[in-house]
Amino acid sequence: EKDGHDWFMRKEIFEQPRAVADSLLGRRTRSGALQLDEMRLSDQELRDIDKIIIIAAGTSFYAGMVAKYAIEHWCRIPVEVELSSEFRYRDPILDYSTLVVAISQSGETADTLQAIRHARSQRSKVLAICNTNGSTIPRESDAVIYTHAGPEIGVASTKGFLTQLVACYLLALYLAQVKGTRYGDEITQVMEQLEAVPDQIEAVLGRCEQVYELARTHVGTRSVLFLGRHAGYPVALEGALKLKELAYLHAEGFAAGELKHGPIALVEEGLPVLCVVPPRGRDQLHGKMLSGIQEVRARGAVTICLAEEGDATITPYADVLIPLPRVPVLLQPLVAVVPLQLFACELASAMGHDVDQPRNLAKSVTVE
Ligand code: F6R
Repeated sequence: EKDGHDWFMRKEIFEQPRAVADSLLGRRTRSGALQLDEMRLSDQELRDIDKIIIIAAGTSFYAGMVAKYAIEHWCRIPVEVELSSEFRYRDPILDYSTLVVAISQSGETADTLQAIRHARSQRSKVLAICNTNGSTIPRESDAVIYTHAGPEIGVASTKGFLTQLVACYLLALYLAQVKGTRYGDEITQVMEQLEAVPDQIEAVLGRCEQVYELARTHVGTRSVLFLGRHAGYPVALEGALKLKELAYLHAEGFAAGELKHGPIALVEEGLPVLCVVPPRGRDQLHGKMLSGIQEVRARGAVTICLAEEGDATITPYADVLIPLPRVPVLLQPLVAVVPLQLFACELASAMGHDVDQPRNLAKSVTVE
């Protein structure tokens, strides 16, 4: 049942090319327009939306952070991302023109469920992004985008996360289509870039041995930092969460620009720092990330850099270089998170931990 893998988690990491492809399937009509079968909100209802609040917990929350970047960029609608457990308690401003997007792999997370009940009681529409057909959260929502990851058995979310990202991109592009903030051919171009991702993930998985070896050299490490910027920031947070969950290590993700505002004080000789390097582009993201990497390295950190293949500018500052396929910055989380999942899985396994059943954790958290 684990298809020759030692852990369900590892099997599920390797299923990600298929899971992403399945989640993209059937989303385009013959004419090329996007269609979402359980959208159930009319174009007019969607056009009336002037604010989106995304609520989720844990890994799903990080998918929401990526969604914010995509929706704001493509649709020009302001997006807040909030932990479901915090949402109700701050008296959020909600009305019929606010769309609440609840992201939940299991569809049963109690905090997220209570949050959507609250949102609906305030007349907001709720759209669920969920992997579990017929679970409570989609049943209580106005609309649903189902992800097609298949059942996720490992407690730590992997393919669930990647397919949530796909659903978030689809939602963003669909809103752009309905609101007319992007031309049809731009939407088609992003869809084609998304459709190329399964093969690109396959390429990353094909180089798993490099990551496994790296992980094994880190048995005994007490602390690991992760840095990212833009869409790479939630990837850094997710990489750190995987390591906490599975290897019970102190692991923290930071926005690279925040380093100098405090976290750099943590850096000492030999500290491993995993850096998600944005693709080279016209913006200054890449250069800024590079200087962050130089800063930590100058203070003795061992820099492990995930960067676009052929990016020679990074070589002088990377103690270890993990190549990533070329993708636009907004889509980079789909490929960049994969080596971090492999790293956490292998490190925990080498430490002798039960990767599929980490201590103190449950697959779905049905208490608040
Ligand atoms: C992390 C993980 C958890 C879940 C969180 C939300 O690997 O699995 O952080 O992401 O409990 O769960 P769902 O998405 O089912 O609401």
